[in-house]
Amino acid sequence: SDIYRAGISGTKPAVPIDPVALKAAARKALSAEAFAYIAGGAGSERTMTANRRAFDRWQVWPRPLRDVSTRDLGVEFLGRMRPTPLLLAPLGVMEMAHAEADLAVGRAAASLGVPYTLSNQASFPMEEVADAAPHGSRLFQLYWSASDDLNRSLLARAEESGCEAIVITLDTHLLGWRTRDLDLAYLPFTRGMGIAQYTSDPAFQQLVRERAAAPKGDAPGVRVTPRAVAAALMIARKGAPLTGGASLRDNLRSPLPRAAVETFLDVFSTPALTGEELAKAREWTSLPIILKGIVHPDDAQAALDAGMDGIWISNHGGRQIDRSVPTLDVLPEIAERVAGRVPIVFDSGVRGGADAVIALALGATVVALGRPYAYGLGIAGEVGVREVMRNVLAEIDITLGLAGLTSASQLDRDALRKV
Ligand code: FNR
Repeated sequence: SDIYRAGISGTKPAVPIDPVALKAAARKALSAEAFAYIAGGAGSERTMTANRRAFDRWQVWPRPLRDVSTRDLGVEFLGRMRPTPLLLAPLGVMEMAHAEADLAVGRAAASLGVPYTLSNQASFPMEEVADAAPHGSRLFQLYWSASDDLNRSLLARAEESGCEAIVITLDTHLLGWRTRDLDLAYLPFTRGMGIAQYTSDPAFQQLVRERAAAPKGDAPGVRVTPRAVAAALMIARKGAPLTGGASLRDNLRSPLPRAAVETFLDVFSTPALTGEELAKAREWTSLPIILKGIVHPDDAQAALDAGMDGIWISNHGGRQIDRSVPTLDVLPEIAERVAGRVPIVFDSGVRGGADAVIALALGATVVALGRPYAYGLGIAGEVGVREVMRNVLAEIDITLGLAGLTSASQLDRDALRKV
């Protein structure tokens, strides 16, 4: 009702309410490269379309003859009651959208009690996000590294900085065929963006020092492409000292920047994440572990068998495979297999409150939002992120009430009709 009241009193919203207008406003606010990176998907973007179309196969069934004067959006997630069934998905490289990036998102999420999943490719170290919003609920998303030292270090830092769970993303062991990025010859990582978790990490710094000290020929080298030069310089600027006044090429010749970029390329390439690696993760942290990128019931089963504490159904917002299975289509099967044993996070394609209601009714414990909050961030920083979340939450609340329900945790298939 606050949102309506503000509207009636003529207060202009900081971000457009309609998701399509929100995206259009972000396109204007962001550089062409940043917008392409955030909005784009794999190949011809059929998965993104399929993610949205999957929602069209379900309808919310209105039930007016019920008293819905008090409604509760709270759900239990990871052993705690949460005020809302919303979660923020991990988005890397948010410095492309706004200079305050993860700090702004962390503050916005904390202000609404929405848990925020910090990305492995964040623009600020997780400790700084914790300091920016000390009371916020945070999860840490890990890309399992080829370096065990780095994995252990990141897990320990997540624990120490107060993250409530670890999210291991499974679906990015190869970077997707991102047509828009390729057309713009743009890869943010090669510009040294989204590397704050690494450059702030003692295990990473140690790996860099060891490599810099290794005699030439001992360490496998990288090919010196212009991108590697750019990456070396950016990493050097953020992590290791740059030789002032020297040319790009001279800097790359100096051992520290070269070692930094070589180390980054080494540790970032994730090997196949097998049961053995999951067992290590299980051993190295006492935090609950959620596996993100599950779209097959058998993989959900494998996660349960490996002692994981949650399933995150996602196809990375359609950024990895063109013509992938849309997530909403597989949610009911996965929910059936999981049978309430662990929580299910759902994402990819959620744009409004009615979408969230459908996912919750089909078995999601909480629903995660990706691109829409990045758009809010690009348009209006922290305020924009908060407004995007408030709009989704307001629509969830209204839809719930109109469906004759008073509690988000009551939502089940009876609230829906299959088309
Ligand atoms: C992502 N996603 C992602 N996932 C992850 O596990 N680690 C990451 O660093 C990122 N980075 C990232 C950047 C950008 C710009 C986007 C759009 C997405 C995937 C993300 O967590 C989530 O799964 C999808 O964004 C959900 O789909 P929607 O809501 O964007 O359709």
